[in-house]
Amino acid sequence: MAKILVTGGCGYIGSHTLVDLIDNGFDVVSADNYYNSAPSVLKGIEKITGKQVKNYAINLCDLAATKQIFQEHKDIVGIIHFAALKAVGESVEKPLLYFQNNLGSLLNILECMKEFNVKNLIFSSSCSAYGNADELPVMENTPFKEAESPYARTKQMGEHILEDFAKKYKDFNCISLRYFNPAGAHESALMGESPTNNASNLVPVITGVASGKRAKITVFGTDYDTRDGSCIRDYIHVMDLANAHTKAMQFAVGGQQAHNSEVFNLGIGAGVSVLEAIHAFEKVNDMKVNYELGPRRAGDVVAIYANYEKAAKLLGWEPKRNIDDIMKTAWEWEKVKDAISAV
Ligand code: WQD
Repeated sequence: MAKILVTGGCGYIGSHTLVDLIDNGFDVVSADNYYNSAPSVLKGIEKITGKQVKNYAINLCDLAATKQIFQEHKDIVGIIHFAALKAVGESVEKPLLYFQNNLGSLLNILECMKEFNVKNLIFSSSCSAYGNADELPVMENTPFKEAESPYARTKQMGEHILEDFAKKYKDFNCISLRYFNPAGAHESALMGESPTNNASNLVPVITGVASGKRAKITVFGTDYDTRDGSCIRDYIHVMDLANAHTKAMQFAVGGQQAHNSEVFNLGIGAGVSVLEAIHAFEKVNDMKVNYELGPRRAGDVVAIYANYEKAAKLLGWEPKRNIDDIMKTAWEWEKVKDAISAV
């Protein structure tokens, strides 16, 4: 069984990816300092898979502590590097924190790959790396525009670092996966978005209103040039996203990369507006959500969605779930998440 190190393994996408890797026969180890996650996530993973995952609660900016993992696990063949700060607004307030953390940890991971001869890396990039793209849907070769936030810039820079690393070290494989808007939860409702994450993302806000934790949701902008005036995004179910990591790792470990640096878009290829998302939630869960129409939010792009043909063709990956599945599983998780995380 090939062993994979998953950094940020207790986080939202990392935890779902651990489950998918285990389901697909990989051995796994996690590194997560619980900055925006909780140890209870590991219990959810164990309940779903029957496997106990070892987690190292270290800061990946600490090179010595990071090396220790590789010293203890000489058989790691690949790394999926999720661990990063991801709050767009916070990154504007604390740019240095974002550069230090997101790029410092990436550089340490690359150092360890060289030192311990770990050949395969998958890096969490983001559709925000595109900035305000000129054409939709965006393709992998759509040029990056100006980053709208330091967070987005760390993702652009991370990708560039990997390109240069791969250029120099030809027998190492690097893959950047550009996520669109991840949402939803594991179908078992044993795992979902971290309860410690006081997110302002659309889907957790909708479920928060539905559960009564929030009074209402404000639709940020209804005068955009879109079919109903609200912004359009490509919401991808977290389990589909997780499975893309497994497929990407199989692709890299299996030596199928023609180029040792690759980039893939991961979305479902369809845009959903904010109002459509709210109405999808209302329909599949048969309840009303209290929403109001409000002004635009600073920094929002009008519309973005993916062309994912490259991932379909090279990785054999297809998203299997849609916005309805996202809203159903997000709601099932919302209803139990406090009880689960209190354990
Ligand atoms: C979605 C849409 C809002 C809340 C960010 C990152 C990106 C990625 C995903 C991160 C927008 C609208 C939201 C609300 C609203 N990765 N909205 N009312 O901004 O597309 O992307 O998260 O780690 O990199 O930039 O996601 O969920 O915040 O917003 O109307 O209360 O919902 O304006 O149009 P976003 P989001």
